[in-house]
Amino acid sequence: MSVAVAADFQDVRGREYRWTHDAVYLNAASWGPLPERSRRACEQFERHRQRGLLRDADLVLVQDQARQALARLIHAQSTEIALMPNTSAGLNLAAHLATLRARPGRRTIVLSDREFPANVYPWLALRKQGFHVRFVPTRAAGQPDEDALAEALEQPGVIAFSYSFVQFSTGFRGDLARFGRICHDREILFVVDAIQGLGAVPLDVQACRIDVLACGGQKWLCSPWGTGFAYVRADLCTRLEPYLPGWLAFQANQDFTRLVEYDATLRADAQRFELGSQPFQSCGALAESVQLLLALGVERIYRHNLALQDRIVSWAAARDDVEVVSDQSARSGILCIRPSAAVAAHAALLDAHVTCAFREGAIRLSPHFYNSASEIEQVLVTLERVLAR
Ligand SMILES: Cc1ncc(COP(=O)(O)O)c(C=O)c1O
Repeated sequence: MSVAVAADFQDVRGREYRWTHDAVYLNAASWGPLPERSRRACEQFERHRQRGLLRDADLVLVQDQARQALARLIHAQSTEIALMPNTSAGLNLAAHLATLRARPGRRTIVLSDREFPANVYPWLALRKQGFHVRFVPTRAAGQPDEDALAEALEQPGVIAFSYSFVQFSTGFRGDLARFGRICHDREILFVVDAIQGLGAVPLDVQACRIDVLACGGQKWLCSPWGTGFAYVRADLCTRLEPYLPGWLAFQANQDFTRLVEYDATLRADAQRFELGSQPFQSCGALAESVQLLLALGVERIYRHNLALQDRIVSWAAARDDVEVVSDQSARSGILCIRPSAAVAAHAALLDAHVTCAFREGAIRLSPHFYNSASEIEQVLVTLERVLAR
């Protein structure tokens, strides 16, 4: 049975993604394509710059728009948003903030094994400062073992827990509310790498009691490379200081007419963690993309993606040569499948102009709001052709 796609989703596809006739793009988990409106926003900004029409206020405006849209997306205040060039910058910030909260006898950082490396190396680097990283093994199928993680967090000595909202190689959606409660009760810094979920799966940082969240704009937010952000809970913004102080992090430098007074009072919001000038031309595009997601509604985008995936899951269930790798009780925008001839099947999809990834032995399909039901049928026709050989 084919999937019904809401009229406004079809409209947006027609307006923002005219190229979709040429290719089937099922790879938002690698990077999301820029909507037309965001591409135009970048172009217009650069055109203004070329003509000498940009003012300081224009630079402030695009950043504010981006912070406000991102704050709405995660149910935060815009003063809790620091613009960052990627996820790694936010995770390194989180690791630094964890060191500021270290206390005698509390130097353990808990991670799930098989996390994406961006959420591993900043923590491993802390070993030089006497911290200890405890990896909790995954379950046999490679999904995080959330009961074992909860147990690890209940051991003495834990200072921080950093966890992906959605795992990159399986699409497993973490139970953030559960870990937010545990971390809050035990005063453990709760850090979330949100890049594989945000924009495709609803997230409320307050309900999940997240302390620091890091997210690049390039995947499910369909934004330019070089954009991203960190959410830092309000009370941490006033208590913790940046490791790398940028000149715009200081209150006095909001006034460009008196820059050399060097008053070392930091801003009282998350902007104290920003590091100087931003990719301003891209901030407007980030704002446009996130506003588009908000207009469609992330809850609806999630349901749309799951409906597209349902078609593949039920197709696979009727066959004995395709395994569904993604845990169906913790779903996200990512669906991983392993057909019997997985490498050949992936190559056939690429030949048929279906863009998708191959990760840890499985085909990773990551549909987003611009994908249609007929595109999913194209995928299945291609897979059936390979499997019939
Ligand atoms: C879970 C996860 N974190 C982080 C990243 C990327 O980090 P960055 O934005 O720093 O390149 C990826 C994928 O590229 C990822 O899957």
